Amino acid sequence: MPKSIGILTSGGDCPGLNAAIRGVGKAAHSKFNMRVIGFRDGFRGLMENRTMTLDPAALSGILTVGGTILGTSRDKPQKMQIGGKEIDATDAIIATYEKHHLDALVCLGGGGTQKNALHLKQQGLNIITLPKTIDNDIFNTDVCFGFDTALGIATEAIDRLHSTAHSHHRIVVVEIMGHRAGWMALGAGVAGGADVILIPEIPYRVEKIAEAIRERSRGGSPFSIVAVAEGAVSKSDADALQVIEQRKAKASSKTDKKQAKAALAKWEQGHSGNTWRLAKQLEEMTGLESRVTILGYVQRGGTPSAADRLLATRLGTACADLINDGVFGVMVASRGQGTAPVPLGQVAGRRKTVPLDHGWIKAARLVGTTLGD
Ligand code: F6P
Repeated sequence: MPKSIGILTSGGDCPGLNAAIRGVGKAAHSKFNMRVIGFRDGFRGLMENRTMTLDPAALSGILTVGGTILGTSRDKPQKMQIGGKEIDATDAIIATYEKHHLDALVCLGGGGTQKNALHLKQQGLNIITLPKTIDNDIFNTDVCFGFDTALGIATEAIDRLHSTAHSHHRIVVVEIMGHRAGWMALGAGVAGGADVILIPEIPYRVEKIAEAIRERSRGGSPFSIVAVAEGAVSKSDADALQVIEQRKAKASSKTDKKQAKAALAKWEQGHSGNTWRLAKQLEEMTGLESRVTILGYVQRGGTPSAADRLLATRLGTACADLINDGVFGVMVASRGQGTAPVPLGQVAGRRKTVPLDHGWIKAARLVGTTLGD
């Protein structure tokens, strides 16, 4: 009896998802004679039993295509929104798994997906995951697919912003994706030669940034590129956030938890528009006109780079191999040019932020880039 496997993509899309689906599917079909079923729109499609045939014909011609042919969503098995209510859909998901007599379910996703996958593994399902996100912040893998493509897009944007900032003697503040980790802003900032790079791992002081920009002007360069991660925070905002997070961690009663959650939501609301606020502050403090460019979803769209296709194919095919060997409850991580199965418990709920002694940070400082601290 051939094995049956399901595949779904969950969380934000990214370039390389189709290459990964193809990698898993082609190896599963051609090498291991498995039956492959796709589930649409992440865990919601799994709950609703919405499927897509992933036969060799469906897997053909998708290597270079951006997004995911399966569709995606940010729905969580335990907190599914149905009819305006939050429902635990775990049982319905297990029912779909059993209905198709699945031997394994492959979940392609980011940090949230790894947590959801661990939950399903704990319910007794054979789960295996792949690490995808342009944020590159999944724990215990060298790298995530989607990151290289997005990094290239953000770097090209910085290149283009340079010439217009230079011509108009302006500050251009460019916002790059990454709420909790600064891999993209840092990588693109270094590769694109940004004058200032701000990442969540290094809270900034706006006075330091303004001083660096004024110094550049005095030196004959009255323009600057400020690459700011979505989640970059000023020192005072970071201190306030730390207090809230400590409160949240200590909260034991339902009321305490609710209050801490509300405080966090309020903080996040106050933080939105941070990039615009920063640009205005810098304009006032330096006397240089400033402009904002928010790269947004352009970073997640389009054709995957060669590096992402290679990575997704490497991880996807290794995944089929592991399923064939009966290895479950793991994420297929990238290790150098190879792969390694990592138990989901060592991935879920953790985040890979940029270490403060990382080579990119050292290099940025050595070429004179201001990191705002
Ligand atoms: O996939 C990660 C990410 O790209 C973050 O960098 C970004 O903040 C987030 O997704 C936004 O995605 P969405 O609006 O689809 O939830």
